[in-house]
Amino acid sequence: MRAPAETIRRVELPFSVFLRKTARVETVITSDIEAAAQVLRAGGLVAFPTETVYGLGAHIFNEDALRRIFEAKRRPADNPLIAHIARLEQIDELSAHVGSAGTAFVEAFFPGPLTIVLRKRPRVPLVATAGIDTIGIRMPGHPLARGFLTACDAPVAAPSANLSGRPSPTTWKAVLEDLDGRIDCILQGDATEIGLESTVVDCSSDLPFVLRLGSISLEQLREVVAETEVFAGTAATVAKSPGMRHRHYSPRAEVRLVEPGDFKLDSSDLKTAAYIGLRRPTERVKIEQVCDTVADYAHRLFEFFRECDRRDAKVVYCETVPETGIGAALMDRLRRAAEL
Ligand code: TXA
Ligand code: MG
Repeated sequence: MRAPAETIRRVELPFSVFLRKTARVETVITSDIEAAAQVLRAGGLVAFPTETVYGLGAHIFNEDALRRIFEAKRRPADNPLIAHIARLEQIDELSAHVGSAGTAFVEAFFPGPLTIVLRKRPRVPLVATAGIDTIGIRMPGHPLARGFLTACDAPVAAPSANLSGRPSPTTWKAVLEDLDGRIDCILQGDATEIGLESTVVDCSSDLPFVLRLGSISLEQLREVVAETEVFAGTAATVAKSPGMRHRHYSPRAEVRLVEPGDFKLDSSDLKTAAYIGLRRPTERVKIEQVCDTVADYAHRLFEFFRECDRRDAKVVYCETVPETGIGAALMDRLRRAAEL
């Protein structure tokens, strides 16, 4: 990694580079919210921290900037972006149909790690929504994100700030690892607290249904709207949430899930193996991460996967957890990583 925290690059804003779409750009790293927002307002791409993972933002009404997000991430063109807002009134800029479930979720969980999917207004570019007529909307609670989004003075379209297929970034260094030279700016913050992406709930039809699990659990959503369903993995979800059919969250190594108490790891691969879980494994492996709680496991998982890649692990053993609360979201990410 070539930019330790002590040598933060503060350079003049590279407005001229915005025009060169495919050329390598200088990625400015800054903790100055106003400088980062100025880059975004001028049409640049800015990665910023949220409580879930780092996002890669562009002005939602700037179609060129939106296209650059897809290029920078190598994101499939059929995968829609989430609009991030600083104020509840901005929902009205994006959708005229919040509905009763949407309103209830906004009241209960905004700001926070929840994305609601609503029918979009015609002015929201189809590039942002990958051609579909709904838009995901989220209002992060993270103070830096809120300051940044306020200074941007418009909704900000942002997917996770990783190369497509790689684990979502939970640190600014992980963003740099994937996107250095491909984006204009990184707003530097601490490691993200939750570590898994937001819960996504579709509120665009009669009954809400969960498209992606996150730290806001199905139980919590049902306390607010009892009829909320999950269609994860079904054809309905695949049709509704294009992102869920793409490969996700994976390290290069093979991921194998192991049940608690069942630590018979394959002795032939221990020297190149890694392990993460709540219990200590009985065998010694090359990279080991024992987590205090399920939330701590979720917080560490994606950075652990990246560490496994940096240290060239061949197999990553991941202990399974009970599927309640954030454990359900964690198991979803583990299964995807293991391609189950
Ligand atoms: O926590 C998060 O949600 C982070 C931070 C940066 O906010 N963002 C994030 O974005 O994870 P991304 O693009 O990596 O994942 C968004 C997911 C994708 O699976 C996408 O298909 C789905 O949400 N999605 C977005 N808009 C949608 C829409 N209009 N309809 C259905 N699914 C949508
Ligand atoms: Mg993503």
